[in-house]
Amino acid sequence: MSAGKRGRFIACEGGEGTGKSTQARLLAQKLEARGIDAVLTREPGGTPGAEAIRGLLLDPPGEGWPMRAEALLFAAARADHVARLIRPALAAGTWVVCDRFIDSSRAYQGIAGGLGDDLVRDLHEAGSEDLAPDLTIVIAADEATIAARLADRDAGVSDAIGGRDSDYHARVNAAFLGFADAEPHRFVVIDGVGELDAVSDRIWKAVSPLLDDRA
Ligand code: TMP
Repeated sequence: MSAGKRGRFIACEGGEGTGKSTQARLLAQKLEARGIDAVLTREPGGTPGAEAIRGLLLDPPGEGWPMRAEALLFAAARADHVARLIRPALAAGTWVVCDRFIDSSRAYQGIAGGLGDDLVRDLHEAGSEDLAPDLTIVIAADEATIAARLADRDAGVSDAIGGRDSDYHARVNAAFLGFADAEPHRFVVIDGVGELDAVSDRIWKAVSPLLDDRA
């Protein structure tokens, strides 16, 4: 990569059990194999402070967070992650592959949680100066595939947000598709059904245009 060139920022998004974490890892490995410096990170988390907030969010003390407090905690975790890891990496020319980013807050707290998109976007502006991914990959899958993956992954145990009812998660999944429709230049929707390698190939095709214009 030429010196001084900013890294690219790719977010992987989707509801529960879409296989997005595995695919984010495979994408980071493929970038490295192409000789591109890439860091794989996740939200909530990615820095010590944000990982501590992750614990508070997914295993909340007491009766859990009111939705506004939940949104503020996600925004605070993201602000730390952006300031301490994502922006410095991009400035150093490193590509960032992030397992979830702002569109998860828009889907889970804004749409499914009922806070509205404007409030979540305002928190992102305040916390992270509106940083947006260059490309946001939404991995979509049908309900049967998701149910099978979740049974495999969670073995009947889920966290405070993953364990919400099926209506909530249906609103999350619909929200991601709605975002992609509204901003086709920033999003690509990938069919997450099928073999890992086949899905990974679809993602690689979607990322290729970014590889071409990095020279
Ligand atoms: P994970 O299961 O992908 O690690 O994500 C943890 C949970 O946090 C998952 O249920 C989605 C949820 N989440 C939000 O509700 N809002 C957010 O902004 C993010 C990043 C995650």
